[in-house]
Amino acid sequence: MAEFQPRFLSDYQSPAFTIKKVDLTFDLYDNDTLVTAIMQVSRIDKSSKQLRLDGEHLTLVSVAIDGQLLAADQYQLDDSSLTLSIEQDDFTLEIETKIDPENNTALEGLYKSGGAFCTQCEAEGFRRITYFLDRPDVLAEYTTTVIADENVYPYLLANGNKIAESSVENGRHSVTWHDPFPKPSYLFALVAGDFDLLSDTYKTASGRQVALEIFVDKGNIEKAHHAMASLKKSMAWDEQTYNLEYDLDIYMIVAVDFFNMGAMENKGLNVFNSKFVLADNATATDTDFFNVEAVIAHEYFHNWTGNRVTCRDWFQLSLKEGLTVFRDQSFSADMHSKAVCRIQNVRLLRRMQFPEDASPMAHPIRPEKVVEMNNFYTMTVYEKGAEVIRMLHRIVGDDGFKKGMALYFERHDGHAVTCDDFVDAMADASQVDLSQFKVWYEQAGTPTVKVEKQFDQAKNELTLHVSQHHPDLPVNKTTKDLLIPIAIELITQAGSQSHLLTLSQAQQTFTFKHLENEPVVALFTDFSAPVKVEFEQTDQALNTIITDAKDEFSRWDACQSLFMREIFALINAPSKAVSATLLATVSSILNSEGDNALKAEMLTLPSFDEIAELCDSVEPQAICRAVETLKQTIAGELASEFKQVFTSNQQTTYSKDAKSIANRALKNVCLNYMARSEQYASMVSKQYYEADNMTDGIAAFSTAVIANLPDLSAISEHFANKWKDTTLVMDKWYSVMAQQQQDTFTKLQALLDSESFTLHNPNRARSLIGAFAMNNPQHFHCESGQGYRFLADRVIELNAINPQVAARLITPLIQFGRFDQATQQKMKREISRIASIDKLARDLKEKVSAALS
Ligand code: ARG
Ligand code: ZN
Repeated sequence: MAEFQPRFLSDYQSPAFTIKKVDLTFDLYDNDTLVTAIMQVSRIDKSSKQLRLDGEHLTLVSVAIDGQLLAADQYQLDDSSLTLSIEQDDFTLEIETKIDPENNTALEGLYKSGGAFCTQCEAEGFRRITYFLDRPDVLAEYTTTVIADENVYPYLLANGNKIAESSVENGRHSVTWHDPFPKPSYLFALVAGDFDLLSDTYKTASGRQVALEIFVDKGNIEKAHHAMASLKKSMAWDEQTYNLEYDLDIYMIVAVDFFNMGAMENKGLNVFNSKFVLADNATATDTDFFNVEAVIAHEYFHNWTGNRVTCRDWFQLSLKEGLTVFRDQSFSADMHSKAVCRIQNVRLLRRMQFPEDASPMAHPIRPEKVVEMNNFYTMTVYEKGAEVIRMLHRIVGDDGFKKGMALYFERHDGHAVTCDDFVDAMADASQVDLSQFKVWYEQAGTPTVKVEKQFDQAKNELTLHVSQHHPDLPVNKTTKDLLIPIAIELITQAGSQSHLLTLSQAQQTFTFKHLENEPVVALFTDFSAPVKVEFEQTDQALNTIITDAKDEFSRWDACQSLFMREIFALINAPSKAVSATLLATVSSILNSEGDNALKAEMLTLPSFDEIAELCDSVEPQAICRAVETLKQTIAGELASEFKQVFTSNQQTTYSKDAKSIANRALKNVCLNYMARSEQYASMVSKQYYEADNMTDGIAAFSTAVIANLPDLSAISEHFANKWKDTTLVMDKWYSVMAQQQQDTFTKLQALLDSESFTLHNPNRARSLIGAFAMNNPQHFHCESGQGYRFLADRVIELNAINPQVAARLITPLIQFGRFDQATQQKMKREISRIASIDKLARDLKEKVSAALS
């Protein structure tokens, strides 16, 4: 069937026709919305006679060319397209379609979220609104009229500036918007609803006034202030950092509860998952506040990197996403602790992207083959994509990068371009040859860099023998050597020196002269490349890095290496004693001076997925047991020290400054260890009941769940009762409850059956099912296979409701490669069961086929 056929980057052809202007009218009704599209179409390829428009899940009402209605035998219609024979070079095409927003449970195109109408068009959702050239290299100027009941939908919004409004018959009203910037269809947006509105203004660097408007559900306005402040910071940062100003007179953000992803950068009218807008002290954690700011920034930054310059085709998605993630990460690092931000980026990459890059769905940051585009909004395209931009930044330097950005906009503003165009702008602005660097865009898999060191006492010379290795993945036809920037620090008694090495060959040797004594080497400081490293380090060397490295990321990383080493030792010899030097290291970190936020990161053990990622053929339960032993031992041996640090970081009044956030983070890491020692476990429920903020409350609640404390059921009931009417907080409740350790599957079933659970809301589905599969490895990977079955059952249910969410949730099930054969078989059995169901959506079909091939 055509809908399962892959598309290839190598088949790209520029469009034969284009649409220069489009006039849309939406007569909004729940089940029966009439969409009228009047398009100015031009032929580009003079030899092309057939105009094929994309369209799915549409009811065609009429088609007219230059005012002439077409009869049914004058066009061809199928499930995914409308094809017309065209004589004219320039003509007006008018198409009427009917759609059913209320029954649109896939949440793509026009749908209802709660009481409001909203849209999600990226990547290919516009074709669910009308027949169109639904591809990012067709840029049109949009005028949009929205008509709806005036009482139920007082706000009618679309992209651009409002140009007209009026009342029409039957208590309905009509509002018209015009967006002067030509854009691809994926950036189209419409919203109709009744909201509370938070308004503000921003004066741009050149002195223009921009109206800022955030629309939230009634009663939530107090929770929108943090988002507004974040938006203004983002606008100022982009002016200061890249000289980029906002370009329309109004910037609107609408928060909705039903949303497949995080948020969407539609021109002038962002639509957001409410999770990334709403935040106040009572309901949001420190992490939530951080994430709201980061996502607001991300979508705002897209206005230049994504909207003004967009992608030629969807294979180029990382052009806008990798770059925009890099930009939002840089912004966050400027607003907060640089080191802690970097550590969190790397943790995410190792935990989620490395496994993806070794899985059956592994793909380069610029994929070459796609069945369902929604499957490529991935950790690889986003997070590894951002690492690739960061390497470019390191190679050309900050000034070079800024010059490169300026040249990129000078060349490509208003156009749809490729990843090569971006790298070329960087190369030309800095006069650096980046041809080998482009291999990062075409090659999948996490490279491994092996390093051996030699120190010549007589010559005082250090030599590093460095080699690069690439995994053998079916997606890579061949493997090529990459250009890998390796930042290092050499630590001697005399101090430390930093160097940037560039590895371009399979093997290379680097020599450092005039060293007084043998240095300790910290490799990939600041995580200068997204690779795995093999380098023999003594415990003593790692401890030197922990205490003496200038680079804080390396200090954290050395600490993680020590933990990792101990965990592997425990996997191989479960009854061995935990190393006394490791305990001493943990104790000295705990008692050291310095940034508490960094300490909290250093004291956090690697997650299940980071560990599994370094394994091959391991039983998942062996990982869980090793981690538990290590945690128990550290908790037991250092119990009074954790208690002491916990107590000294208690706060009397809640505040959100950096220091208070850091103290909370450290204190809550301590609490987690304390929960495992009998004499202090009662501190958990004490903190829960006394907490005056969500960070402390949820930390205590989740600690009670993970440590399976006796007070757990009282706490969980109290929490659910207190927050039953606050959707976003109840999502947290489900996520925490998904990590139950006892009678897990009975409790999961009760959660599925609970009144406020629904698979129709993606946040809710993810909060229970995603949290179980990703954060409860003991039970997801339980030996009976029940965890896999639980996930597969939900994926099958979601296939019929929301394939995009189903395809996202299946991820942990298809990442089986690192486990032993018996485990792999259990996982594959469930994948086969999914593969065999009727009407399997394209999204899932692509993934299960890859997993079973
Ligand atoms: N462009 C959005 C972002 O800022 C993501 C939208 C993805 N939507 C989807 N249905 N795949 O990252
Ligand atoms: Zn994005």
